[in-house]
Amino acid sequence: GAPFLAYRGESLYLEDCALDALAERFGTPLYVYSQAAMLAALAPYQRALAGRDHLICYAMKANSNLAVLQTFARAGCGFDIVSGGELARVLAVGVSADRVVFSGVGKTREEMRLALQAGVKCFNVESEAELEVLSAMAVQEGRTARISLRVNPDVDAGTHPYISTGLKANKFGVAHERAVALYRRAAGLPGLEVVGIDCHIGSQITDVAPYLDALDRVLDLVEAIEAEGIRLHHLDLGGGLGITYTDEAPPTADVLISALLQRLDARGHGHRMVMFEPGRSLVGNAGVLLTEVLYLKPGEEKNFCIVDAAMNDLMRPAMYEATMGIVPTRLHNASPVTYDVVGPVCESGDWLGRDRALAVQPGARLAILSAGAYGMTMASNYNTRGRAAEVLVIGDQAHLVREREQPAELFRNERLLP
Ligand code: LLP
Repeated sequence: GAPFLAYRGESLYLEDCALDALAERFGTPLYVYSQAAMLAALAPYQRALAGRDHLICYAMKANSNLAVLQTFARAGCGFDIVSGGELARVLAVGVSADRVVFSGVGKTREEMRLALQAGVKCFNVESEAELEVLSAMAVQEGRTARISLRVNPDVDAGTHPYISTGLKANKFGVAHERAVALYRRAAGLPGLEVVGIDCHIGSQITDVAPYLDALDRVLDLVEAIEAEGIRLHHLDLGGGLGITYTDEAPPTADVLISALLQRLDARGHGHRMVMFEPGRSLVGNAGVLLTEVLYLKPGEEKNFCIVDAAMNDLMRPAMYEATMGIVPTRLHNASPVTYDVVGPVCESGDWLGRDRALAVQPGARLAILSAGAYGMTMASNYNTRGRAAEVLVIGDQAHLVREREQPAELFRNERLLP
């Protein structure tokens, strides 16, 4: 899965940085990202789209560290944002708003106002009610809101129920059957300019087939909408491409994109601008979470390896029962013991890995793999635990790109009673 992660002798390296040395220098828990791995994940998207009018909008919810955003901005990416906070982040790194699309099912008026003032490229609108509020806000601000409707193609992406989004039962998008009528409505509302159509069918998708199904459904709509005299300039096909955590075998981005472009051409839509919103596939395998073993605790039924990272640092196992690789940062010639790797948080759900064979002692460090996406961005302060520090490596250079949160910062905004 992770191309720039390898043992050299006994030591695990990310690019040319020994992870044990980074843990020593910056402390644990520590997120470490490889810039080369991010760029290598982006390259197949760029290759497949070369020569086309396109924009790759990195879905920054996966990892919104400013240095990560900078990396993708310098590589020519646009961004998919879902909140005023994410808008503030992209603007903070100097991204031009005309490379930003604004997704999300519950945009507030204030978020709309900020995005209108910034001049985002497109609002991906998810309901009729939102369309009306956005129209009113645009008129009030004296701006035009460029919009796509996010349509729900009702295909099963075959993924975890919590991260599948393209089914009828989901809160996302507008129903296929309602889409033409809503486009007509949008075209008649002041302050709005219809520019495209959008869909996103889920996350951690490991097949090309659901994407092709969704594209066919979207193209049917495009044809119906344009038959009404409403022009659609771009097609946003969302994100969702999966990565290898353990034994998943998703298609590479160039295989996926090529298949989609081929279908687009075959149906006579090859001239359209295409957009994608990849998140996980650009950063997931570019990052690890380093943690130190605090205690080994043999139990009646299970052995526990208690580490200093916890569910507040990395929610995916607790929240989705996600399996993520866990390996030592230094190899030992001891015989492995099977442990549940758990954190210090006071919840039985606070586990990072189950039944893992590990040869470790207290003080040893572990790397939790594929933690570059939906790791730090989903972290919380539960148990008044400060969030981890983040380091981005470029070759043999390690850059601290976020300092560890200190306890006093955690209650800085709280007030004592008089
Ligand atoms: N576009 C939209 C509208 C989305 O909702 C998402 C993700 C993406 C793009 C990016 O999807 P990606 O390429 O990363 O799959 N926290 C979960 C994943 C939630 C995904 C939410 N939406 C996890 O840790 O697995």
